[in-house]
Amino acid sequence: MKALRGMKDILPPLSKKYLHFIEQASNRAKRYGFEYIETPLLEETLLFKRSVGESSDIVGKEMYQFTDKGGNDVCLRPEGTAGIVRSFIEHKLDKKGGVHRFFYYGPMFRYERPQKGRFREFHQFGVESFGEPSVYEDASVILLAKDILDGFGIQHTLKINSLGCPACLPGYKESLVEFLKNEEGICEDCLRRRDTNPIRVLDCKNQNCQEIYKDAPKLPHNLCNECKKDFELLQQILKEEGVEFEIDTNLVRGLDYYTKTAFEFVSGQIGAQNAIAGGGRYDNLVEMLGGKPTPAVGFAIGIERILDLIEFEEKREGYYIGVMLEEALKEAFNITQAKRKKSKAVMEYRPKSLKSHLKSADRLGCRYAAVIGEEEYKDGSVWVKDLERKEEKRVPLKQFLEE
Ligand code: HAM
Repeated sequence: MKALRGMKDILPPLSKKYLHFIEQASNRAKRYGFEYIETPLLEETLLFKRSVGESSDIVGKEMYQFTDKGGNDVCLRPEGTAGIVRSFIEHKLDKKGGVHRFFYYGPMFRYERPQKGRFREFHQFGVESFGEPSVYEDASVILLAKDILDGFGIQHTLKINSLGCPACLPGYKESLVEFLKNEEGICEDCLRRRDTNPIRVLDCKNQNCQEIYKDAPKLPHNLCNECKKDFELLQQILKEEGVEFEIDTNLVRGLDYYTKTAFEFVSGQIGAQNAIAGGGRYDNLVEMLGGKPTPAVGFAIGIERILDLIEFEEKREGYYIGVMLEEALKEAFNITQAKRKKSKAVMEYRPKSLKSHLKSADRLGCRYAAVIGEEEYKDGSVWVKDLERKEEKRVPLKQFLEE
């Protein structure tokens, strides 16, 4: 049997890099005031239809959707935001008021055509901030994403755009539809998008369409005063923080819930699937899902896409404990348990030669190899080698346990 197409096991050494990433990213998120949240992998399908949007590819084509044994229409989460908004409302945090900041990580599922950097099960690390309308929070969230990427030395380009709000977006959509009506040669998909969600045409991958849309009305030129002010302030804050960015007027994101700020981090080092993180503001989503109107902003990083870009060399750690004679096993086992109170300790249960023990200790990434041979067994000592410093010594058992 094999794992399903587009799904992967995460084994060591990759799993060590994965955990290292989660640990570093979580620590950075905590510095910005985010707290850990976990929501179920399975949700009602309706949740994603109403948030990510029926016109999106995610909901339209890529959902792992099925009817459960109770007859409920459910699906594996294709992204994290919708479930967290559901949870935020269910636990009445919208009524409580104030600012609530969460970070999360875990698997997401999209039935896409697998290729390099694109999987059907993949992992995201994300943050969601609720209750803060200030554009400083947008900047803060962008800076956190950048901090995480910079912490691993990941080269990237930041692209930003503003998608407007209910006051200015409908007017923009109308002018875009007018423009599209007068254009010939746009692709079938865009003709459909024109009727369902016209701004989606802007990130069409068809070269011919992109040529045509060069002359299309631009989102940032059609913003209301408030959105314009916020977008300008965001740029100013980023500049003052020394963050380089590009304004991409075609950046519309693949999910329907965004308002105002939208952003993406792309990498030039990972091939066609170059988006390593994406996010933005979604001030209407809490209300759309039945909660009290609450502004919100967040992002998610695609973990698989950046693991390739991260260098991670694990430090040698803890003890390897072995014996050269059967009689010493019990004593070695006691030592192992004692060492485990404070550090990593791995024991080999079969008596082996010193050379063979050293090889195993090295393979298991241990810092010290402690071996009990005949001599050591007789006089109550242990032979210990520091595999990093290449130093060895024989020490009384008592001293070894206290070290
Ligand atoms: P998204 O842009 O759909 O946004 O996904 C975020 C990141 O997940 C992408 O930039 C990419 O790195 C990764 N990703 C997406 N699909 C795949 C795939 N099939 N295989 C591998 N990696 C993938 C969201 O999901 C929003 N929930 C982000 C957000 C949070 N917005 C506000 N808050």
